[in-house]
Amino acid sequence: MRKIKIGIIGSGGMARHHLVRFASIPDAEVVAIASRNEQTGTQLAKEHNTVFMPEWDRLVEREDIEGIVICTHNDSHGEMTLAALRSDKHVFVEYPLASDIGEGEAALRCAEERGRVLRVSHPEAVSNTHKALKKKIGELGDLLLTSFVRLTPGRGVRPEILFNLPISGTPAHFFIYHIYPIVDFFGGTSSVKRNATYEGLRENGQYDGFVNTLTVEFKRGGIGQWTWAGGIAINAAEEHERYVLTEGTISDAGGEWHCTTPAGVTPLPMSDLSQPTLQALWLSEVRDAADQPPCLEDAAVALEAIRISLASE
Ligand SMILES: NC(=O)c1ccc[n+]([C@@H]2O[C@H](COP(=O)([O-])OP(=O)(O)OC[C@H]3O[C@@H](n4cnc5c(N)ncnc54)[C@H](OP(=O)(O)O)[C@@H]3O)[C@@H](O)[C@H]2O)c1
Repeated sequence: MRKIKIGIIGSGGMARHHLVRFASIPDAEVVAIASRNEQTGTQLAKEHNTVFMPEWDRLVEREDIEGIVICTHNDSHGEMTLAALRSDKHVFVEYPLASDIGEGEAALRCAEERGRVLRVSHPEAVSNTHKALKKKIGELGDLLLTSFVRLTPGRGVRPEILFNLPISGTPAHFFIYHIYPIVDFFGGTSSVKRNATYEGLRENGQYDGFVNTLTVEFKRGGIGQWTWAGGIAINAAEEHERYVLTEGTISDAGGEWHCTTPAGVTPLPMSDLSQPTLQALWLSEVRDAADQPPCLEDAAVALEAIRISLASE
């Protein structure tokens, strides 16, 4: 089978993660890594027997490369995605899709016009839990309320990057992976209200702790609420998620999903079918794009998700 040649941008944690997965797929070949960090970039390239390039814009122009994997910080995803698509490359970008709604919209348009694959690294496409939730939600009538709460003492591996408004955006934006699945269930929103407080906020946009809330109305009805608090005085992270629908309520308790109706409480049936990795899924989409226009459903949901997260600025 013809090998699909890939270039990776970034040389941090997620670049390493993707490299390991691509290395286990026989028809993928990572031909170069671009990063502004020469030290980690050359080290990673050496470990994976590939080439280091300091300039990402030279990488996306290379004619021998079919796909670009973007693993940089949030502030550069939109620009790099657009540049890669405009160079006729297929794109696999870490979430969030972009930090500017105009860039996100332009990326989706460009992928559509040029018949390129645009996949954002949201794992729901290969998640049995997400599929089971989606099916059950479809059986339980109309949405009344969905609520999500995450409380965490953590500040990330590089807090100077994560807790940094100009680089990572608001917590709602870097926690986009809590918004994407809910948009995939219930679609777009007609209104977004937000609130945020920051502890130790400095002039350069760095801070030490936060509370960020969002309340939305979905176009098809129902209310969505997210609450995130980070860098707070709590021993371990906590997460609660609820879907209240007209015929029943789905909730997580200790990692197990349950459905509650007037008839009682039942565990959510879950398939144990093995799913491809996201990297393998993207490669199969790249291969299929030679014969048919790619499906951009995932990118469209990712775009709706940043419409919400960016409204929290
Ligand atoms: N899918 C998931 O499960 C998951 C999990 C965690 C994070 N993420 C997302 O993945 C992305 C990367 O996170 P990470 O943990 O890998 O971060 P990281 O370890 O800090 O790595 C980011 C890499 O990109 C480089 N970089 C940043 N901006 C650049 C630019 N403008 N031009 C060229 N290189 C640039 C950085 O260089 P320096 O070393 O010089 O900063 C670093 O090598 C983030 O957007 C995050 O939201 C996804």
